[in-house]
Amino acid sequence: MCGIIGYIGSQDAYPILIQGLRRLEYRGYDSAGVALARQDGSLAVYKARGKVDNLETVASARDTSGNAGIAHTRWATHGEPNDTNAHPHTSQSGRIAIVHNGTIENYAVLREALAQHGFTFKSETDTEVLAQLIEYVQNENHCDLVEAVREALLQVEGAYAIVVTEQGRPDRLIAARKSSPLVIGVGDDETFLASDATPIVGFTDQVVYLKDNELAIIERGKPLQIKSLDTDEPSDIDIQPLKMSVAQLEKGGYDAFMLKEIFEQPSTLLDCLRGRITDDCSRVVLSGVVENAERFLQAHRIVIVACGTSWHAALIGKRVIQELCKIPVEVEYASEFRYGNPMIGKNDIVIAISQSGETADTLAAIQLAREKGAWVYGICNVVGASIPRNTDSGTYIHVGPEIGVASTKAFTGQVTVLTLLALCAGQIRGTVSREKVREVAQALMKMPETIKEVLKLDGPIRQLSRMFTYAHNFLYLGRGYNYPTALEGALKLKEISYIHAEGYPAAEMKHGPIALIDREMPTVIIAPNDSLYDKIVSNVEQVKSRGGSVIAIVNPGNDKMERLADCCLEVPEVPECLTPIVSSIPLQLLAYYIAVNKGKDVDRPRNLAKSVTVE
Ligand code: F6R
Repeated sequence: MCGIIGYIGSQDAYPILIQGLRRLEYRGYDSAGVALARQDGSLAVYKARGKVDNLETVASARDTSGNAGIAHTRWATHGEPNDTNAHPHTSQSGRIAIVHNGTIENYAVLREALAQHGFTFKSETDTEVLAQLIEYVQNENHCDLVEAVREALLQVEGAYAIVVTEQGRPDRLIAARKSSPLVIGVGDDETFLASDATPIVGFTDQVVYLKDNELAIIERGKPLQIKSLDTDEPSDIDIQPLKMSVAQLEKGGYDAFMLKEIFEQPSTLLDCLRGRITDDCSRVVLSGVVENAERFLQAHRIVIVACGTSWHAALIGKRVIQELCKIPVEVEYASEFRYGNPMIGKNDIVIAISQSGETADTLAAIQLAREKGAWVYGICNVVGASIPRNTDSGTYIHVGPEIGVASTKAFTGQVTVLTLLALCAGQIRGTVSREKVREVAQALMKMPETIKEVLKLDGPIRQLSRMFTYAHNFLYLGRGYNYPTALEGALKLKEISYIHAEGYPAAEMKHGPIALIDREMPTVIIAPNDSLYDKIVSNVEQVKSRGGSVIAIVNPGNDKMERLADCCLEVPEVPECLTPIVSSIPLQLLAYYIAVNKGKDVDRPRNLAKSVTVE
């Protein structure tokens, strides 16, 4: 949510900043801006409402020279998306420019106090308040900007990652973070700062993940300095390798990142499984679980916290863990968990699931769980993100960067890891038979091939989508393992096509939603040959007898559904706990093609951002 980037070095900063903004655009695209600090001492600031393309149009007509600069792509929190509220924000004198990701909670109080000291404000943002506060502190204390930034941040409550530049100092950038991510790319005589590593890829493969409450001083010709915001003491600098390639960040011939990511699933699942199942499929070894075997042996309960698509994966995780480990599992929205007086005991395990590893609500839930003494396990995609840093142990899903705002490959990766976790912990607890481990492990190892089969539905789904593009409402139904799949299918459709869609447990339909069904409202039903198959057939009969049209996701040889449904999409049969993986992919494709038919910007749906770093 909001992307920031900074560059200082010997190259022209502007093209690097713009390219970086494009890679970060998935974090927000309400407005964009850039500030360039020039050798002649000037500071040029250009901003534009809307996507990075608009900023380019504005800036390309102006002087974009300079070897240092900062830039920002915004997801609006304080103030509507317009040019004035766009970052970078400057201080009263125009001397200091700042880009910020996060939320300053006490900005109203600070703004009021600064107004009393004669400061006036152009924008409605919390970030301008911070820029003014830094200038105020510097004026009052007659200190260097580094000290002013530190002093100002000590007065701030909330979350921030900031990069600051200053008129007359094209040789220095200052950055700091608290609860919002910031990565430093260390190159030869050049340094990059960014909300995540994507803008840095291709320039350097050495990165430092700034920690909470740290301040970095990047000065040309001098080694990187990092210090504690609280104590001003120098911190250790931990340079880590960056394992990401430029190809992973490009569309690779696909029309959209979302489509590329749907089609990547055979290989992402392979990466996710690599090294975690023995060659003979007799054992599953998830190091985070094996190393903490005692925790899983003693566990009385597991509580899973997550948001959005990750929450849907959690609901599937609940079923598979209960089936294979015989541990009771509760699933909570991370945003509700911390306001629901959670009762956590020392024998409870809290599992936090997050693609980005930066979701503010999930991070806050983790913090609360840890304060209550819980042991927290993270399931995350982005390596080095805040969630893996703030959990006691965990597993990466390793599906590579997910750039499309609608989550696809991360969902199947999360379900896969949850299944591995259930198998591994089930072995430790003695609650899963060898036959079951082998059956599920073999099916997982075959999953990349199985998904290739599912992806052959691309053409038929594209055609089918044309019949449903103009529906205003959709119902998605599933049972057991596939009730969460129904929720996920509905979420995919609504977030990228803006069609209202509801996911429901199929049998619940008759308790209310059935009233909605008419010829105008299609129903998507997930009906694999599982233990609930016959029951779901009767649910479909109820829809059909009310004139509704039905798209069914089925397994081969499904005569009953073939006769009832208007259209059947056949996916290979897999063990019941893996059906959400194969059933969710046709739903991803259906949502994608309906949104494309409607002319929507699939990768950048309105009002959304990939990484939700505000409450
Ligand atoms: C939906 C989607 C969101 C995220 C949610 C949590 O397609 O992407 O619902 O799943 O914002 O994000 P993470 O998993 O990064 O914590």
